[in-house]
Formats: sequence, structure tokens, C-alpha cells
Amino acid sequence: MKAKLGIFISGRGSNMLAILEACRSGALADCAVVEFVFSNKCEAAGLRKAEALGVSTFCIDNEGLKRKSHEKQLLEVLERKDFDLIILAGYMRVISADFVRLFPKKIINIHPADTKVHQGLGAYDWAWKERLIETKLTVHFVEEGLDTGEIIHQEIVNLQGADSLEEVERRGLAVEHVFYSEAIKKVINGKEFKALSGK
Ligand code: GRF
Repeated sequence: MKAKLGIFISGRGSNMLAILEACRSGALADCAVVEFVFSNKCEAAGLRKAEALGVSTFCIDNEGLKRKSHEKQLLEVLERKDFDLIILAGYMRVISADFVRLFPKKIINIHPADTKVHQGLGAYDWAWKERLIETKLTVHFVEEGLDTGEIIHQEIVNLQGADSLEEVERRGLAVEHVFYSEAIKKVINGKEFKALSGK
């Protein structure tokens, strides 16, 4: 049986699209399916893109809501959904420790830097300002700290000769789009996931 993914986004959703594509005809085709896409921003361009591809979507805008009440509303919807993994793909809202505790080893994030060196927003900006000649993207389980969970996989992006922030981001995203799906596959094929999900 294929693993069911729920993807959380906040914006353009290029990683979400890459994962969707991987589920349909790429690295995840034999082992995963996207059940739904959720956004905390109802105007997120990625939601429209997912809808156009026939994927089930929903949004609960966090504007004006405290984290607790936003997550309570989200959990009410999630209770009615069938999913094995939550995939954060440009989800720009910090998830509370209470929420994380409900889904141990079931929430995965991609961070566009080495999480041992850089956490939080602006990772490409940081790599550009530091003039790094390479940066290390990280896929990790979400635990209670910010970008500190157990590392699933890291991948190096060559930044030699990159002459603008746009070029740094372009190179990084090209790698993200391939290796996020590969890291998800690694989780799905792992013993721990099989034991937790019975798949
Ligand atoms: C990506 O760089 C991702 O690593 C970071 O936010 C960005 C989201 O881009 N967490 P997109 O929405 O997937 O295009």
C-alpha cells in the first residue's frame, strides 16, 4: 500500500509540485500518493496550482488567529483526513510543540541549509551574504525545536561562481526539487515508518 502524504505550504509551492510529480511518475510513483495540500495562507499560489492538477486542497488562514486556535481548527480537519506523513514544503508557520507531539516521526521538513549551522528563515540569503561556495540542504523530522529535528538526509549544492542571490536560490531549488522526494522515499522504505504505519 502506498504512503499517503499531506503537504503543507504557504506560498508558491514549487517543492509541493515536484513531490506531486514524483508521486505521479517519478521517484515516489511506487510508494506514495498526495492525499491533500493544506495552506495557512488562503491566497497561496501553490493552492491554485494543486487544485488545477486535481489535488484536494484546503486552507485555514492564520491571519488574526493565535497559534493554538489555528492549530485546533487544523486538527479538527486533519482528524477527518487519512494520511501517513505530513510534508512541510515551504510552510512558513512555526508548529507548536503540542502539535509536534501528536505526530512523532510523521512530520518532515526541508530546510535550505545545514540545520547544524543555520536555522530559521533566510537560509539562501545567508549563504549568499556569507559567499559560501557550497551549502548543504537538510531534510529532517520535525521535533520540538526550530529546525533541529533528526536529520534524514543532507545534500550539497555547489555555489561556486554564483553571482547573485537569485542564482543561489535557483541552484538550491533545483536540488531541493529532486532530493526532497528521494528523502521522503527513504523514510517510507525505512523500518521505523513501516512499523508505525503498518505499510
Ligand atoms: C524552499 O526553499 C524551502 O526549502 C523553504 O521554503 C522554500 C519554499 O519554496 N522551506 P516553495 O514554496 O516550495 O517554492
